[in-house]
Amino acid sequence: MWRDLLRYAEVTSTNDLARDHARRGVAEGTVVVTGYQTAGRGRQGREWLAPPGTSLLMSIILRPNPALARSAWLTLIGGVGVAEVIGEVCDLPARVKWPNDVRIDGRKVAGVLAEGSRIEGAPVVVLGIGLNVAQTADQFPPELAETATSLRLAGEREWTPRELLQPVWQRLRELYEELQRDAVATVRRRWESVDETVGRLVTVEVGETLWRGRATRIDDHGSLWIEDEAGELREVTAGEVTLRFEA
Ligand code: BTN
Repeated sequence: MWRDLLRYAEVTSTNDLARDHARRGVAEGTVVVTGYQTAGRGRQGREWLAPPGTSLLMSIILRPNPALARSAWLTLIGGVGVAEVIGEVCDLPARVKWPNDVRIDGRKVAGVLAEGSRIEGAPVVVLGIGLNVAQTADQFPPELAETATSLRLAGEREWTPRELLQPVWQRLRELYEELQRDAVATVRRRWESVDETVGRLVTVEVGETLWRGRATRIDDHGSLWIEDEAGELREVTAGEVTLRFEA
């Protein structure tokens, strides 16, 4: 458990490969890592692009019980684990933007894509993480020039994706085991210590619906609560949602 590391030079997407391995019965906590993805995926059907060797690209296979499989915390721990490692190992001020972005000084440095399925009736969740480690400014596409960063751009020391794999894998194990023990409060405290969402004015887009308001809290289910302009409290569940910070 949380022992097997499957490393590939190049894959389509580590999330796809991880799901294939899950079907073949590999143990929980197994991680698939690569230096390059030819079809890396982001949330909401977007591509996730990273030049060879610049990023930590990994997917962890989880086999949660059915109740835990439904919890948004399962995906939120991805951001918490990565932000903690960037803070404690790299000494950079990383923050999580609900539900899945990790940012440094307002620029995205990592994203999390959790994909659930059922294999022989049992839930499997593949937790995919893409962390920009060594990109230079010219290695981001022009449309991301203002909004993306890498550890190299944000800090002074140069890191390699390989050095950060073990710390991230270890953090995620810890956080996942807290969830298995039902210790959501502990995980939530850890989220809060790296959160940059609560208190902000936000716009939330869910399908055709647009809400504006202030983010007030994240609850035990991992939902974000917004107080809208009319003073109504609204629950936003993690999923196909886009969140923008205002001002
Ligand atoms: C996002 O912010 O949109 C999520 C990005 C997730 C990217 C990672 S890279 C490793 C894993 N494999 C994929 O195809 N996607 C995730």
